[in-house]
Amino acid sequence: MITADLATMRQNYSLHELDESSVDPHPIQQLRTWISEAVDSQLLEPNAMTLATVDASGGPTTRVVLLKEIRDRGVVFYTNYESRKGQQINHNPRVCLNFLWLELQRQVRIEGIAHRIDDEESKLYFQSRPKESQIGAWASRQSEPIPSRVILEKRFRELEEKYHEEAYLPLPPYWGGYLVEPVLMEFWQGRMSRLHDRVQYQLRDGSWIIERLSP
Ligand SMILES: Cc1cc2nc3c(=O)[nH]c(=O)nc-3n(C[C@H](O)[C@H](O)[C@H](O)COP(=O)(O)O)c2cc1C
Repeated sequence: MITADLATMRQNYSLHELDESSVDPHPIQQLRTWISEAVDSQLLEPNAMTLATVDASGGPTTRVVLLKEIRDRGVVFYTNYESRKGQQINHNPRVCLNFLWLELQRQVRIEGIAHRIDDEESKLYFQSRPKESQIGAWASRQSEPIPSRVILEKRFRELEEKYHEEAYLPLPPYWGGYLVEPVLMEFWQGRMSRLHDRVQYQLRDGSWIIERLSP
């Protein structure tokens, strides 16, 4: 029954169009435009993106992280460098990001190389976060098994007590940002009858080559 329902569920897409002749020549600029439109549309977490990494044997893993900055060189997210994703990026910095904005019938794919940003930059961002989030980052060994939630909450309270007079906490040595420098970006706009618009930017010899892809 459930399977039958899934098989008949389908949306027709007709909100927007995307043409290779009118996109911005630089994909980061095109991303800025689409992010602004997603923010203006008041979507929930418009900066949420799926991050794919691979393990040492080439096995892929994904999880969602938040885009925190768009730079001319790429996009920045923050995490625990010792987490599963951090270890995988250490081993293989090639990553892929995906934004899905269903309400706009859009997705964006970014393939690139993840580089750690400077600790000074991470510190600035870390200390701009709410104090509870800073405590949370110190309290959690992200991706490590933990016997119970009680232990996590105890660690949180101890840190809260330790730093109760400070306005902010120091940057944990294992926490910071990654800049993903793209080598390929694809902008996908849903269209009627599954004839979707796909515009791909590929970096070749330092220039962005723009092509339309079949849907
Ligand atoms: C909407 C959303 C936003 C998230 N943002 C982040 C983030 O910016 N950084 C982060 O480390 N984890 C974030 N997470 C948690 C990750 O998805 C993931 O559970 C965590 O980073 C551990 O991943 P790993 O074990 O693969 O390293 C977010 C989760 C969701 C659902």
